[in-house]
Amino acid sequence: MCVKSFVALLFISHLAMVASPANGETGISPPPALEPGKAPPLPGQGLLAAPRSPGQIGFPTALTAAVTPPATPPTPAAVALGQKLFFDVRLSGDGTVACATCHDPARAFTDGRSVSIGIHGRVGQRNSPTVLNALYNKTQFWDGRAATLEQQAAMPITNPFEMGSTSLADAASGIAGDRDYQAQFMLAFGRGVNEQDMLRAITAYERTLASFDSPFDHFIAGDDDAVSAAAKRGWELFNTKARCNLCHALSADKRDVTTFTDNDFHNIGIGILRHRVGPLAEQAEHELAQGHPPALDTAAITSEMSVLGRFLVTKRPADIAAFKTPDLRNVMVTGPYFHDGSMQTLWDVMDHYNKGDGLTDPWLDEDIQPLAMTEPEIDDLVAFLASLTSAPYKTAGDEEFARQFAVSRTDRPQRDTARAFGPKPKRPPF
Ligand code: HEC
Ligand code: HEC
Repeated sequence: MCVKSFVALLFISHLAMVASPANGETGISPPPALEPGKAPPLPGQGLLAAPRSPGQIGFPTALTAAVTPPATPPTPAAVALGQKLFFDVRLSGDGTVACATCHDPARAFTDGRSVSIGIHGRVGQRNSPTVLNALYNKTQFWDGRAATLEQQAAMPITNPFEMGSTSLADAASGIAGDRDYQAQFMLAFGRGVNEQDMLRAITAYERTLASFDSPFDHFIAGDDDAVSAAAKRGWELFNTKARCNLCHALSADKRDVTTFTDNDFHNIGIGILRHRVGPLAEQAEHELAQGHPPALDTAAITSEMSVLGRFLVTKRPADIAAFKTPDLRNVMVTGPYFHDGSMQTLWDVMDHYNKGDGLTDPWLDEDIQPLAMTEPEIDDLVAFLASLTSAPYKTAGDEEFARQFAVSRTDRPQRDTARAFGPKPKRPPF
């Protein structure tokens, strides 16, 4: 059987379908306050944790088959095991943190915080990206330091600021005595509890978290009434005057309606000016010369070198503070925004792009420039972004849109109209 029909059959015959909107879903509250020295509480599973249906409008069947490794297809047994592991705090050093701690299904698999908090309440350097559609990412993490989901999954388990296990073997031994796990590993992989299959199961689950079925997908499928006039104008702007498609599309020549990323890395002027980049780059070259993955991971999550972004991986000066272009699906419910969670609303994000921020940042991407967008145009672009919210998050998305809209009428910390309508500034040399 080819992978494609295998994947389809599997989803249809065995996996729960996510109804929309999900039971009891009531929008997104602020993340819970924490006791000092404590990790955030483990979120519940609920319907939003369930594997998604390939029958969703907009589901890219061919692309999904192409990114599914033949060696580890998401069989129902592996997926069920993976979902259980994703929520299991026993994989962490002190039994308090699971993947879901920072990737909460109710928050579209993010944590709602600017930067994530892990074991012992340790605060990392980066914002938690959604795991929805991560299966389509060409690389994982904001700096692409993991090439596959399998490589990615290993890192938080031992990162001292995330799950803090001393080793993968230690994490696996935490569940090895559990009869249910023993049976589930046997069923999924034909052998007992082991590290490698633990990671494979987690990624099998992640590969079912495909999120489409948004108003935009219905619009593209031919339902002209699925999105507002504002969202339609925003989609036009996205591909023209606002220049978003230069990075948030597979190619700038053809409209991309699937993953909204070029799978590349760019410095778009986030955060860099707050740091002493030169000395940090020297430090990274010195300390991370071997490119040893766990060392890189620790640097990215726990040290100020985090700000160097893609440079940590490539050591190329042009990659200083370059970060991965993220997929924009469900972005209405995955704030705060950017790799450091430094912006609170999509209006702030738009104001950032509109002024072509990063004037004195020598590594700024060539494609960043003032956009001269008017206030109604900015509202249209946000309406378009909001139309990328998948059906299970409709209520949350509507409520968050209303909240951000209200904030944006009075509070616009990033807005600089004079610069937005000014000339493109000269880039300083490296
Ligand atoms: C303490 C919080 C925390 C925990 C626990 C955690 N993550 Fe993450 N996750 C993050 C942050 C923060 C990032 C981004 C880090 C970076 O880019 O450097 C991330 C990135 C990812 C990505 C990459 C997504 C992308 O778009 O590049 C995936 C996939 C992921 N995590 C899955 C997992 C899995 C699986 C586990 C459990 C084994 C896990 N995470 C545990 C916070 C966490
Ligand atoms: C030069 C490439 C480039 C252009 C042009 C661009 N983006 Fe981005 N976008 C990125 C990168 C790279 C990031 C991540 C940057 C970071 O976190 O440091 C990003 C992040 C975002 C985010 C935050 C997503 C999240 O999950 O935090 C949104 C929203 C966004 N872009 C929307 C847009 C819109 C709308 C436009 C057009 C006005 C646009 N982008 C233009 C490259 C680009």
